[in-house]
Amino acid sequence: MENHFLWWRDGVIYQIYPRSFADSNNDGIGDLPGITGKLDYLADLGVDALWLSPIYPSPDKDFGYDVADYFDIDPKYGTLADFDHLLQEAHKRHLHIILDLVLNHTSDQNKWFQKSRSSRDNSYRDWYIWRDAPQGKKQPNNWQSVFGGSGWQFDEKTGQYYFHMFVKEQPDLNWRNPEVYKKMLEVFKFWLERGVDGFRLDVFNEYYKDDQFRDNPPKFGIRPFDRQQHIYDASRPEMFPALKDIRALLDSYKERYAVGETFLASTEEAANFIGPEKLHAGFDFTFLTSPWNPKRFLSVVNRWDSLLTGDAWPNYVLNNHDQPRSASRYGQREDDERLKVAATMLLTLRGTPFLYYGEEIGMRNIHLKRSELQDPVGIRYWPVPVGRDGCRSPMQWDDNENAGFSKGKPWIKIHPDYIQRNVKAQKENPNSLLNFYVRLLAIRKATLALQQGTFVPLTYDPRRLLAYLRQDAEQTVLVVLNFGRRKVRLATGPQLRGRDWQLLLSNKRNSVPEIINGWLPLLGNEASIYIRKNKK
Ligand code: GLC
Ligand code: CA
Repeated sequence: MENHFLWWRDGVIYQIYPRSFADSNNDGIGDLPGITGKLDYLADLGVDALWLSPIYPSPDKDFGYDVADYFDIDPKYGTLADFDHLLQEAHKRHLHIILDLVLNHTSDQNKWFQKSRSSRDNSYRDWYIWRDAPQGKKQPNNWQSVFGGSGWQFDEKTGQYYFHMFVKEQPDLNWRNPEVYKKMLEVFKFWLERGVDGFRLDVFNEYYKDDQFRDNPPKFGIRPFDRQQHIYDASRPEMFPALKDIRALLDSYKERYAVGETFLASTEEAANFIGPEKLHAGFDFTFLTSPWNPKRFLSVVNRWDSLLTGDAWPNYVLNNHDQPRSASRYGQREDDERLKVAATMLLTLRGTPFLYYGEEIGMRNIHLKRSELQDPVGIRYWPVPVGRDGCRSPMQWDDNENAGFSKGKPWIKIHPDYIQRNVKAQKENPNSLLNFYVRLLAIRKATLALQQGTFVPLTYDPRRLLAYLRQDAEQTVLVVLNFGRRKVRLATGPQLRGRDWQLLLSNKRNSVPEIINGWLPLLGNEASIYIRKNKK
């Protein structure tokens, strides 16, 4: 690989949930000028790109993931001019902008759907998936909505059913219609021409459904949705030509990028969407859902790493807007030492790291009463705690009212720990999680072996620690991570012998420890990074 710093491969991507980042006009909802006002913070943190969850006009049945107009900005977030300004200011600071494109479905308020549902012979009718139910059946086939219930909604006016994989206010587009296809590519083009650097493609492997609408076969599961093998309503082979066209369009511009959110896909399927003539990157969520266990993390990494070779580049994610925060899953009360171990792992593996706003200060999930729930998934399944509101609370900037997020009433509640846990307090504390992230990001940026170097695991049966090398022609980096609270030792094979290691970063020590009889000691929850020049 070449040495040139390629932002999406060698850099770090930071996801912002715009509603909850910074509110500039105090209406309780974060907005684009709010983000622009925090660009210096993000540049100082040391990330390279910002992925913004959807900012298009939306009635918010699924908080922006139901798009009413792909060619505009929702007034609650600002205007197209505000967006252009944000883009310009971000680029000045070498921050790239990634937009979230939700092209599997629209909002039912989108004018295309309004027309489509108006009559059977409207020219937009075929833009969505309309079917009749067979005689004596209550729906066209057995497909379900992942958010609960049938995937088919009967529409009185024209007496047919339309398909929706998510809530009923999110009708699925018909990608087989050539006009829809053309329009989707225009959406990419519109934002590329404005200077956007990349896209996160929401549930892109859901774009195509079986053309014969066959029933999904059964399998064991708890919810009705999980009692089907999703072979006819997702990951259909027809999507590959579409990926090829999308990629060709992106490649006709300089250094543009697309990362796909895979839906209902195995690690192998996810890997199969990545590479030349396909997407630059895709998510596999087995890393994110792994328990706090080095063995499990290592096996996920080895698998992902072995499936992605050549031009297919891995990425790693511990948090996003759909999952409980890693600080709540892995953190121990208010102690952040484990989170430093997690951060070190995320930022030193071979692959692009994704951070989620607030992860750098260890934000925890909020707990909501039933009456406070906002997410349709949380409301539908209450009291089963599958809702996603918990990880979407406002960014904790300081200990002022509403954590410095807004002077108005925030759209969702703020975590009560903001008094102690906030950006300002952590900036002032040299041992804070935030300062650890800042140092880690700086080290990653300065160390080529941590970007493109090979990944060589050193622990084969790791019960308590993970150790690996990242190596390029010039340097070897050694990463050692103790997942437990007790001290452990790492047996140093011939590869590690020698006195020429330097300590790059540690949460527990200031200098290289003495290796006694070939054993490198690690303190409880220690995360350390060492480096040396390769011998010629
Ligand atoms: C993706 C998004 C999620 C959204 C869904 C429907 O999974 O990450 O937030 O609800 O797609 O667009
Ligand atoms: Ca606002």
